[in-house]
Amino acid sequence: MNELALLGGEKARVKAYPEWPVHDEREIEAVTRVIKSGRWGGFPYPGPETAEFVRRFCALHGAEYGVAMMNGTVTLEVALRAADIGWGDEVLVPAYTFAATASAPIAAGAIPVIVDVDPNNFCIDPQAAEAAITERTKAIIPVHLGAQMADMDAIMALAEKYHLVVIEDCAHAHGARWRGQGAGTIGDFGSFSLQSSKIMTAGEGGILLCKSQEMMYRAASIINCGRPADPEHKIYTMGANYRMGELQAALLNVAIERFPQQTTERQEMADYMDEALSEVPGVRVLRRDPRITTRAVYRYIFAVDPAQFGGATHDLICAALDAEGVDCWVGYEAMHHYSLFQPHLSKLPVPAAYPERFQFDQMRFPVAEQACEAEAVWLDESIFRSGREGVDDAVNALKKIQARFSSDPALVQSLREKLAQMH
Ligand SMILES: Cc1ncc(COP(=O)(O)O)c(C=O)c1O
Repeated sequence: MNELALLGGEKARVKAYPEWPVHDEREIEAVTRVIKSGRWGGFPYPGPETAEFVRRFCALHGAEYGVAMMNGTVTLEVALRAADIGWGDEVLVPAYTFAATASAPIAAGAIPVIVDVDPNNFCIDPQAAEAAITERTKAIIPVHLGAQMADMDAIMALAEKYHLVVIEDCAHAHGARWRGQGAGTIGDFGSFSLQSSKIMTAGEGGILLCKSQEMMYRAASIINCGRPADPEHKIYTMGANYRMGELQAALLNVAIERFPQQTTERQEMADYMDEALSEVPGVRVLRRDPRITTRAVYRYIFAVDPAQFGGATHDLICAALDAEGVDCWVGYEAMHHYSLFQPHLSKLPVPAAYPERFQFDQMRFPVAEQACEAEAVWLDESIFRSGREGVDDAVNALKKIQARFSSDPALVQSLREKLAQMH
């Protein structure tokens, strides 16, 4: 067997995986066209490029209404504010997600209530969500994480039973479909990030899909300094400038043309990865729920069993994969430990009333903690645009690491010590 690249052996993947974002002359032409037009942003909002992007994005997801914004954090905050969720209200969020999912409710004045995730998909656990509901709970933000979707059937049933607003955080799920229905159109709102790492991007940007026309008008007003967006000029809101610029929209109008083919390619390769990875000892594949009829692959997450990797947890396995030329990451921290999400309690008026909701050190979310501290490995989307050969290289690298680590726990121990010293 080849020695691990981490220990000076040959890499399993010699060629670099493809770059992201993809671009060619079409981006240059689109941006040049906008520059020459002199219409770079401002209002009336949306400008022509932005309106066209909203139309195309809605069509792609089967949505009726959408509002383009600056990023996928304000989309969440605006959805909450459009739905009149604010001071003292509670919003359920998963324990395993990016900080924005929980910081948006705080920005809207609400309290994020952290809920554990389901070990089968690392998305919010509907049973744990139900157990966390109080009379103050007004909304739930399921996150479709990595290449998975939250159980939207169970979440919509909860929403109906407890009258909750559902905001799907689709920052990872552009183009995904649940039983044929577009991600972001199942709940009341669908929030998408278009930031540079996302599978549709203009560097920065966001879009909010809205189920009702009224919510769309409210959201469109909030992001345009409170100006009314409805034709009769009846809906005024407390707003700010969260508009998308025309240059960004022009880039997105090109990206969306390439998107269907990229989705097909990533999906086929993710399905192939499911099969290939299931042969690797100590790997738990998060299987595709058959209700996910189209799968978006932002990051492909699987779980490792350290006992079958000679005691190595995901950080060491990722370091070894990285050395083999496989782009990967250990993923987010659990939300209650998240360094980006530690608000100053003294600055927030609401927690004084419900202090237990902010006692992070006393919270326990076993599934999320296990994923964040030991198990989860996030493979980069570029692997899923590199054909079967790219997937095979990643799987062979993992097999090589598993075989070496499981046969030499003493080596694992010494590597773990080295890694700990580096941090
Ligand atoms: C799950 C999730 N929600 C929200 C966001 C926020 O999006 P943005 O970075 O565009 O504000 C991100 C972005 O990283 C994310 O991953």
